[in-house]
Amino acid sequence: MSGTVIAIDGPAASGKSSTARAVAEALGFAHLDSGSLYRAVTLVAIGEGERRGTDPAGVDPDTTLRSAEDRGLLLYPDGAGFAAYLDGVPVDGPIREPAVTRYVSAVSAMPAVREWVNARLRSLVRSGRNVVVDGRDIGTVVFPDAPLKVFLTASPEARAGRRISQRGHVIDVDELARETAALAARDEADSARPVAPLRRADDAVDIDSTRLTFEEQVGRIVALARERLHAG
Ligand code: CDP
Repeated sequence: MSGTVIAIDGPAASGKSSTARAVAEALGFAHLDSGSLYRAVTLVAIGEGERRGTDPAGVDPDTTLRSAEDRGLLLYPDGAGFAAYLDGVPVDGPIREPAVTRYVSAVSAMPAVREWVNARLRSLVRSGRNVVVDGRDIGTVVFPDAPLKVFLTASPEARAGRRISQRGHVIDVDELARETAALAARDEADSARPVAPLRRADDAVDIDSTRLTFEEQVGRIVALARERLHAG
């Protein structure tokens, strides 16, 4: 029996992952971060690029995916959700490094990579767990029948400011401008790709978190889930 899916999509740094994790916790669901799998595949592509002395975005996707399988890339249950493992160790730190963020849109635009990731996400849900899944195409492509879909946005400045505060230092104007531009470039790449672009599902509920506290945005989604799914 398949589990129930709550889909949370939206642009880069809109707070999807932390929100999805808190919603999952409130409902007793597991959190499934599809971006972590794309990031882990990108880490593998970077390794292959280094071995060949080529740009990671130019590595053939079949080579990358074969290497991912040889190195045992998987999402492993970690209590609240799933953590990406490579070579038998968690790679939560390495997949958030700037080099991965730089190449992840190019690697995840490759159709073979998307099919590989989608097959893994669907098989985790087929195993029967209820999950809150966050990403770019969860409500449109991966789980189009999800009974609750949320499209989470925030202004570019709010998103850049939040991303910088995660780094634990005071925000300066230049860094804010650089981060805003980097997020805009990634959103543009994710929205313009021909396969599974970042797009709001027609039946998604919009939540703009620019002026909401974290508790408010989580509370809205949990309330919607309780209404629709009689969950938690
Ligand atoms: O956390 P952040 O918003 O930086 O991004 P993420 O969720 O970790 O996703 C990283 C990248 O993976 C995105 O910029 C997309 O290129 C890709 N991605 C995707 O194509 N489809 C998904 N369902 C999730 C992520």
